[in-house]
Amino acid sequence: MAFVDYQKKGNIAVITINRLDRLNALGHDVTEGIKESCRKYEDDEEARVAILTGTGRTFSAGADIKEFGKPMIIVEAYNAIEAVKKPVIAAVNGFALGGGTEIAIACDFIYASENAKFGQPEINLGVIPGFGGTQRLPRLIGTNMAKELIFTGKMISGAEALQIGLANKVVPLEQLMEEVLKTAKEIAAKGRVALREAKQAVNRGMDVDLINGCRIEIDAFAVSFASPDAKEGTAAFVEKRKAEFKGKLKG
Ligand code: COA
Repeated sequence: MAFVDYQKKGNIAVITINRLDRLNALGHDVTEGIKESCRKYEDDEEARVAILTGTGRTFSAGADIKEFGKPMIIVEAYNAIEAVKKPVIAAVNGFALGGGTEIAIACDFIYASENAKFGQPEINLGVIPGFGGTQRLPRLIGTNMAKELIFTGKMISGAEALQIGLANKVVPLEQLMEEVLKTAKEIAAKGRVALREAKQAVNRGMDVDLINGCRIEIDAFAVSFASPDAKEGTAAFVEKRKAEFKGKLKG
């Protein structure tokens, strides 16, 4: 795949942006690579959770500035990550600027290294974020914090990202993959239908008012309740044993 690697660690997929000469900037080829990796992950029966990360010292330095002027399709990478019906965790291992921060927040949550640098530096180019920075970022960290990042274009560290709720966890770089894999494996052992419905309910619910959000939730709950893993989960509770989820979508 062009500039994006898809590898497996058991039932975890690791998707790595690999465009070293441009600090993993999101140009046309990288975007196509992310879209293709998302398709591969969705179709990969064995893969239960994916981790998105970057090669070298960067997660992604954002939109490929050298391709400005060509049609920008980064939004398609964003949509592909959000649309995958399985969890995607961002492992932010360095710079995540502009589209880099935006791609990270398209994932379900973020773990970052201490040396990570988040930011929306578009203002320094005389433009504004174009891939969700003015919309999704305020929903995640609040309008005031998002405006400060967008108006100043400043970079913040992994620790600051943790403080404002952008990252869920921050660890030294050498421990990042280990920590993300630990959480990924924990999630991979849960029921697949419940994970799928939970992700979709949260994502769809963010776009509607509370009453309609609760309607989305009750429909998703009903689907999860009818799954084979729900039968196993409730039986295991009653029988005082550990649930053995099979991850079947139907049964
Ligand atoms: N698009 C295209 N190429 C990029 C890039 C981007 N977003 N970010 C970095 N690169 C390229 C650089 O042009 C350079 O290429 P060169 O060796 O051919 O000159 C190479 O990656 C290394 O970058 P460099 O700037 O030399 O590294 P640095 O360590 O000094 O700085 C950054 C790192 C991330 C702070 C800096 O590259 C940067 O500010 N990048 C742009 C970030 C940005 O504004 N993103 C939002 C775009 S809307």
